[in-house]
Amino acid sequence: MPEVLWYPTPTTHRIDRRSERANQKGSPMSERVPVLEARGISKSFGAVHALVDASMQVFPGEIVALIGDNGAGKSTLINCLTGVFPPDSGEILFEGKPVHLHSPQDARNLGIETVYQDLAVAPHLDSAANIYLGREIMKPGILGKLGFLDDKRMMEQTESELKRLRVRIPDPRRRVFTLSGGQRQSVAVARSVKWASKIVIMDEPTAALGVAQSRMVLDLTREVRNSGIPVIFISHNMPHVFEVADRIVVLRLGTVVAELDPKTDTVDQAVSWMTGSTTTEPSTNGSRAA
Ligand SMILES: Nc1ncnc2c1ncn2[C@@H]1O[C@H](COP(=O)(O)OP(=O)(O)O)[C@@H](O)[C@H]1O
Ligand SMILES: [Mg+2]
Repeated sequence: MPEVLWYPTPTTHRIDRRSERANQKGSPMSERVPVLEARGISKSFGAVHALVDASMQVFPGEIVALIGDNGAGKSTLINCLTGVFPPDSGEILFEGKPVHLHSPQDARNLGIETVYQDLAVAPHLDSAANIYLGREIMKPGILGKLGFLDDKRMMEQTESELKRLRVRIPDPRRRVFTLSGGQRQSVAVARSVKWASKIVIMDEPTAALGVAQSRMVLDLTREVRNSGIPVIFISHNMPHVFEVADRIVVLRLGTVVAELDPKTDTVDQAVSWMTGSTTTEPSTNGSRAA
């Protein structure tokens, strides 16, 4: 357990300050609306309070890391934000307006794409078929009406998409089960990026990967951000988080306990917040402070 090196001001103050700073980046505050915002989200599964009044914002052009120990509620928050299940209470705002997402398809229709925790690709299909799964291009004219796939166009567009993202895959015609874990994960990320017009959410994208494979996904995450699409990057790998994140949101026991700046805050501080050895004063943050 790291020593607590730093005595924080109350959480709410820190969160407001960081969000204001993000708000001021680049353009006047009035123009800078979060692309996606969770406002006071609570979600319980029976007796388990997975989320308690959790709030976070994602602004254009940033990678926001969402960190927390196992069971902190990271995936639950993402599931609420992507229509997998509804929150018990609280609001989800998309580009400043409240939305009710009834399914992951609702989220996808808004331009929100998610890379799920468990290398979610179809192993027996090639990269192009994975990227176009459920969104296949049909041949134009009568052939399209007859249900013929335009494999050539899908393959060409996949190749240019992988090139744009600088994803190195031996041959996009290879079935993905023959690829390495990092390459498979890159295909999953490329699929999300191809279809995401507003935001990409990655839930533990490097959890199952080795060092070189993780590197590929981290580079890709930055490519996505640099192409103008903000990213929520979930991980409990601190070196990865501090390497890619522009801002860090810490969840503990279902509550957002801190927002950190990876340029000025340290890994020790992040771990302290995650584990609860740094907490806000009970008088300023109600009963959730441990
Ligand atoms: N579908 C579910 N049904 C029941 N309990 C769940 C479900 N999803 C998550 N939980 C519980 O909610 C808590 C938060 O889980 P989760 O959001 O997966 O955490 P994290 O992603 O941070 O590891 C855990 O106690 C977990 O067991
Ligand atoms: Mg999870």
